[in-house]
Amino acid sequence: MTTKHQIIVAGCGGMANVWLDYVEQRDNADIVGLVDLNKEVAQKKADQRKLQVPIFTDLATAIKDTEANLVFDVTIPAAHKQIVTTALEAGCNVFGEKPMAESLQDGLEITQISERTSKAYSVMQNRRYLKEIRSLRHFIENNELGKVHTLNVDFYLGPHFGGFREQMEHPLIVDMAIHTFDQARYISNSNAVSVYCHEYNPEGSWYAGNASAICIFEMEDGSVFTFRGSWAAEGLQTSWNGDWHIIGTRGTAKWDGFDHLTTETVKNPDQKAFFKETEKRTISNKWTGNEQHAGCLDEMFLALEENRHAETDCHDNIHSMKMVFAAVESAKKREKVYL
Ligand SMILES: NC(=O)c1ccc[n+]([C@@H]2O[C@H](COP(=O)([O-])OP(=O)(O)OC[C@H]3O[C@@H](n4cnc5c(N)ncnc54)[C@H](O)[C@@H]3O)[C@@H](O)[C@H]2O)c1
Repeated sequence: MTTKHQIIVAGCGGMANVWLDYVEQRDNADIVGLVDLNKEVAQKKADQRKLQVPIFTDLATAIKDTEANLVFDVTIPAAHKQIVTTALEAGCNVFGEKPMAESLQDGLEITQISERTSKAYSVMQNRRYLKEIRSLRHFIENNELGKVHTLNVDFYLGPHFGGFREQMEHPLIVDMAIHTFDQARYISNSNAVSVYCHEYNPEGSWYAGNASAICIFEMEDGSVFTFRGSWAAEGLQTSWNGDWHIIGTRGTAKWDGFDHLTTETVKNPDQKAFFKETEKRTISNKWTGNEQHAGCLDEMFLALEENRHAETDCHDNIHSMKMVFAAVESAKKREKVYL
């Protein structure tokens, strides 16, 4: 029998809409309560979405007063640790927005609590759930590029967010790069072992902290992953997924982060020539599931129902968190850091 998921949504800001839209499409899930520090924000959300559910300002009370068995954490990063640990300790599973926590130490503590309570904590890494990235991973797993040794990504955008991001010390690395680092782990199926990161705030930047960074990661399979990025780059912007160049022993794949995915591989590896003859290959779409948030949430629910860790469970996500915090540490120390 399929479980009935009774959900409390904690945090009723902008992102909560995406999560609530998803629940509307799902048969075996109901919203049983809304929580926000600001009661009026939660009430407004309930009214907008025509949800007749109780409103709370405190998650522990909400769990006690409802039949909730699952909490969606869509609060701000600074609240994630408190929300997730409260929910896990109260016997609920948690699906939450990235990042897991504000520090690696907090992320590790939460992972231990998830283990001790035998409750799941899965993290939103929606940018893994795109047909291009899924197809790329499949292509690489099939050894079509040979052994992948180099992954480069450029991420250049100039968003004028206003608000907290423009005040952060490391806005690009801490608020955004986890998506790209997580994508690199997914594409290469490998975790990082070291990083050298040079962070800087370019001339003309409207951020108080460092809006640009260049990172060189060594991965455990021996490949090298480089990230060049900026949130203060006007003009000729890349996709939010970055612009990828991936090289293996048999050829190269390029993905512009939108829907343009191309590869060129050597026709005959034994050919003796100055430049070996290559052929363009199309990567067939191997992903028929939902994309973005819906794809990640499908996997989170399926994992719960199959009593296994989801692909982006905290035990996996901690490896992407380590990349973020090691990059910050490297930038501060101006030296290579081991994860
Ligand atoms: N995956 C993505 O692509 C993506 C995109 C944007 C934002 N996010 C993430 O989503 C999360 C929420 O972002 P947002 O843009 O909706 O923020 P927001 O500021 O619009 O909303 C957050 C809400 O949480 C509430 N809140 C804060 N602390 C709380 C607490 N302790 N208990 C209950 N409520 C609390 C706030 O009052 C606010 O209403 C963040 O972690 C952010 O990084 C992810």
